[in-house]
Amino acid sequence: MYHEIDLEKINLNSAPPTEEPDRQYYYMAKCREWVKNFQQKNGHLPKSFVVNMGCQMNARDSEKLAGILENMGYEKGDSEEADFVIYNTCTVRENANNKVYGRLGYLHGFKKKNPHMKIALCGCMMQEREVVEKLKKSYSFVDLIFGTHNIYKFAELLWEVLESGSRVIDVWEETDKIVEELPVERKYSFKSGVNIMFGCNNFCSYCIVPYVRGRERSRNPKDIIQEIEKLAEDGVVEIMLLGQNVNSYGKNLEEPISFAGLLEEVHKIQGIERIRFMTSHPKDLSDELIEVMKNSPKVCRHLHLPLQSGSTRILREMNRRYTKDQYLALVEKVRRAMPDISITTDIIVGFPGETEEDFLETLDVVKRVRFDSAFTFIYSKRTGTPAAAMEGQIPEDVVKDRFDRLLKEVQSIAAEKAMEHKGKVLPVLVEGINEQDDSLVTGRLSNNSVVHLPGGKDLIGTIQNVELTECKGFYYMGRIIS
Ligand code: 5AD
Ligand code: SF4
Repeated sequence: MYHEIDLEKINLNSAPPTEEPDRQYYYMAKCREWVKNFQQKNGHLPKSFVVNMGCQMNARDSEKLAGILENMGYEKGDSEEADFVIYNTCTVRENANNKVYGRLGYLHGFKKKNPHMKIALCGCMMQEREVVEKLKKSYSFVDLIFGTHNIYKFAELLWEVLESGSRVIDVWEETDKIVEELPVERKYSFKSGVNIMFGCNNFCSYCIVPYVRGRERSRNPKDIIQEIEKLAEDGVVEIMLLGQNVNSYGKNLEEPISFAGLLEEVHKIQGIERIRFMTSHPKDLSDELIEVMKNSPKVCRHLHLPLQSGSTRILREMNRRYTKDQYLALVEKVRRAMPDISITTDIIVGFPGETEEDFLETLDVVKRVRFDSAFTFIYSKRTGTPAAAMEGQIPEDVVKDRFDRLLKEVQSIAAEKAMEHKGKVLPVLVEGINEQDDSLVTGRLSNNSVVHLPGGKDLIGTIQNVELTECKGFYYMGRIIS
């Protein structure tokens, strides 16, 4: 694994290796020399700051960026007042992009004060041609731009910036490559995300992800298992298997394996106590998976199952490939197998052509399924997606009204559902000291709900039996039952 590679032993006078990941270690070593030089000249190490702006997949990528910077010798900063700042961007909705432009203005202020400062942008938003054009034209103070497909080349690209002092832009249209064994700096010592696949082949008509993340590529099961075994040895007890659509994992491998098959293998790994996964597409959720979940006490009792809309007509327009009834039947099947499972979802309101009747169908599903929680989104038009060209874009005031009605329903059901667990004794994985009150710690139930309880930092990373004494709507107060 990566930390067995000693950067000091790399011969920097030789030509860079052509094979990955060796090539990246070579550039990491080069950057490390640069960092040492910086320290000698300035009397302190350069500070780096990685900002994650996206989903769990982005968060995992950000940990890789941080791991590479750490290996180079950068000191980890805690604000944008740093010598190297990188934004790992999201582009799933338009407001994600606007946030980046806003924050870049703020960042420019720091750069004017610090001549050493380098600014980098990467992630999904950089895969959009118009974005890169705009950055080239109006944001000339950005030093490095790269995309999702070549993130593994970060060390090499940073070296180019440091050495040349000029701007580097490298965005690829696609890739079939997965580079293993790069350093990772985990945010938590006891839990970790693990990528099992990259990209998406579904082309939901509103979604930009397949265009910016490319086609589905599954990692080899062997590499995944090895990574998790290593994490378990390092003290990780909870892992989250990550992919845009984990239910279609393994289909493009030489020796195909199903997601359920992979889950069974992960279950066998000693030391791993909790397994989560994200995200499931309802059209691909198999009976085999339900069976494996049911039979594995390690698989958390939580299923995130994006609904998007409750109207069969809109679902067809969205290219979701299931109907309202099929979704309802699936939920019933899952609940029959695991009555205590928590089901959460994503819902979009204001998709082009959505009528009041369509919206009422969505509300109907919400009332029937009674989601434990739901992320609700206002439809955002993404250039290049089929939905952006559809007739019947919905006026803002109508969408806002639907959004408010949906949110109210979702929240009141979620609060009622949470009450059902009050008084139960359930295992909680303690994740950290409570941010408001340091006499408390905060953890999560298997179903992902948050619990606060009296305790100190010695509990972090342990699983405790906790009585849920109070339900505060979206979280619980509890106490340890020994
Ligand atoms: N507009 C609004 N929400 C979107 N999502 C994806 N694309 C869009 C869009 N164009 C939502 C979906 C998805 C979640 C991650 O983001 O609900 O499940
Ligand atoms: Fe987007 Fe649909 Fe793929 Fe999810 S499954 S990433 S919503 S295209």
